[in-house]
Amino acid sequence: MIEILTKKLSDHLYRFEEAGGPNQVHAYLICGEEKALMVDGLWLADGLFTEAEKILKAEYGESYTQENRDKMLEMLITHGHEDHAGKGMEEFLNAGCNVYVPEKDWPLLAEKYEEKKSQIIFLTEEMCDRLSSSGQVVAGKEHYNLCLGGITVQIIKMPGHTSGSLLVWVSEWNTLLTSDAIGAGVLWMQLPECSSLTEYRPEVEKLLTFLEREKARTGKEVRIYPGHAQQILSDVEETGTEQYGQQDYLIYAYVREVLELTEKILANPEMGEERQIDYPGLEHVHVRSTGERLLYDYCYDEDCVS
Ligand SMILES: [Fe+2]
Ligand SMILES: [Fe+2]
Repeated sequence: MIEILTKKLSDHLYRFEEAGGPNQVHAYLICGEEKALMVDGLWLADGLFTEAEKILKAEYGESYTQENRDKMLEMLITHGHEDHAGKGMEEFLNAGCNVYVPEKDWPLLAEKYEEKKSQIIFLTEEMCDRLSSSGQVVAGKEHYNLCLGGITVQIIKMPGHTSGSLLVWVSEWNTLLTSDAIGAGVLWMQLPECSSLTEYRPEVEKLLTFLEREKARTGKEVRIYPGHAQQILSDVEETGTEQYGQQDYLIYAYVREVLELTEKILANPEMGEERQIDYPGLEHVHVRSTGERLLYDYCYDEDCVS
């Protein structure tokens, strides 16, 4: 049975894990003082909207009502893959909530959601922020941050895994949601909608510089929450033990491995072992895979260098 496991990660930040399905996918709820944002919509599990409502009642008490829920609860889809824009997205649309979708990834979702298009707010490239090569967040021309009350959610584009892929940054909490943009132990860069690794490499480099810059600014590592519960190796320094599957977030060293492996593959595209993809419907796809300690399954295809 596929069910949703809800976990409070820190004050006003919650994670929903789709458990028992083929692909332990994660969605997150960020609660500001005035309103809340659900990041991603799970895949096969029913009940994400109900879980969100339970939390909103606890967070906002009587100020959250059925009448004002469309003003207090919105959803952002980080990229156009079905496992992050599934049942939960349908439920939020049916409940009348706004759903933000990166415009560039709309072709991946259009067939399924064409009838609900009027309810979707498309985030164009101009509306999203980006990272500069010195690791700063640069506002987009039409800059569309979401002010939730007390905190501001910055939406940063990071093309690669898909051309519209978004990061969600809450500076006040030192928290970055990355969904699939850098994977979670497993990284998929072999799909037709993925950029070439030549284009992806500078994006990862900018992210790494951003993380370094933030650490220098705050004295703490940014907490990076990914879009899947993969077997993430725990942080030895923090826990004193090396353990798979116990860690909620990714660490700086993981992102460094993403960059190092991207560079190694670019230098030698044949380094990865050839294998089949273990995913419903993609069994026929052959990829190359390589890995290190934290990022242990980096999937790419032969023509990654272009
Ligand atoms: Fe995913
Ligand atoms: Fe994805």
